[in-house]
Amino acid sequence: MPRQQNEDIAMLNVETATRAAVAQEPLFPTPAGVFAQTVTKVCHYTDRLFRFRITRPDSFRFRSGEFVMIGLPNAEQPVFRAYSIASPSWDEELEFFSIKVPDGPLTEHLQKIAVGDTVLMRRKPTGTLVNDALLPGKRLYMFSTGTGIAPFASLIRDPETYEKFAEVVLTHTCRDVAELKYGQDLVADVLRDPLVGEFAAGQLTHYTTLTREPHPRMGRITDLMVSGQFFADLGLPAIDPAQDRGMICGSINMLRDTKHILEGFGLIEGSNNAPASFVVEKAFVD
Ligand code: A2P
Repeated sequence: MPRQQNEDIAMLNVETATRAAVAQEPLFPTPAGVFAQTVTKVCHYTDRLFRFRITRPDSFRFRSGEFVMIGLPNAEQPVFRAYSIASPSWDEELEFFSIKVPDGPLTEHLQKIAVGDTVLMRRKPTGTLVNDALLPGKRLYMFSTGTGIAPFASLIRDPETYEKFAEVVLTHTCRDVAELKYGQDLVADVLRDPLVGEFAAGQLTHYTTLTREPHPRMGRITDLMVSGQFFADLGLPAIDPAQDRGMICGSINMLRDTKHILEGFGLIEGSNNAPASFVVEKAFVD
């Protein structure tokens, strides 16, 4: 190789290395009580949905189904939003499934992250979509719309869920086919997983519906429950408070309507302090 070309390549490498070093240099100090983590994977599904993974701090513990506050190191006082952790509590990394809101204070910037970037995460996880907030039961219904599937992505990868419930029904309603892909890939992975695959094969049902594009099952989960179609499709009796439990995650309106229906079946809302027959968490971010 001619000498000049070699030098050009060497120069290019130096420039790349310098740019990388500059990119790593934080512009703002990391706020107290916050971990600064590195993005390890980003996957865009549609112009509204994407998934990302970050490194997990050694000291960070959480229960499958909990959420954490996420932000970016782009201001002295960064904007934080609640994100359900989509990976199970035993995973080495942390996964999140996010909406992209045009002009959203956080997601407008978050949707542009790339591998190697820094994401901030407050140290304390919390949340009610945890097995501990439910009384024991036979069947667990997980109702989700859009990115509301995230906490269930964590819970269906946790063996404890299958120890506690003989049957797990995950419902996911989206606008169109492309929005279902995250959940479909997730369930396929779970079925192949050496830790939980065998449990999931025998105990997990994935029930998908669409509202704005043709699909074998159409309609909002709320309407399908009210009409009885949902139970007929699954070959199950209507929800029975003696043995059925529920978890709900989606938009504010979806939570309100689904909660109302579960209460109509006689289920009672629980919390970490007072476990009962269903729990609710909003998955709305901007
Ligand atoms: P629809 O298309 O009829 O609005 P979004 O992305 O807007 O949160 O919607 C995700 C899915 O949740 C869509 O299929 C949407 O149906 C559905 N959905 C919206 N509101 C409700 C609700 N109140 N109850 C049940 N499903 C809902």
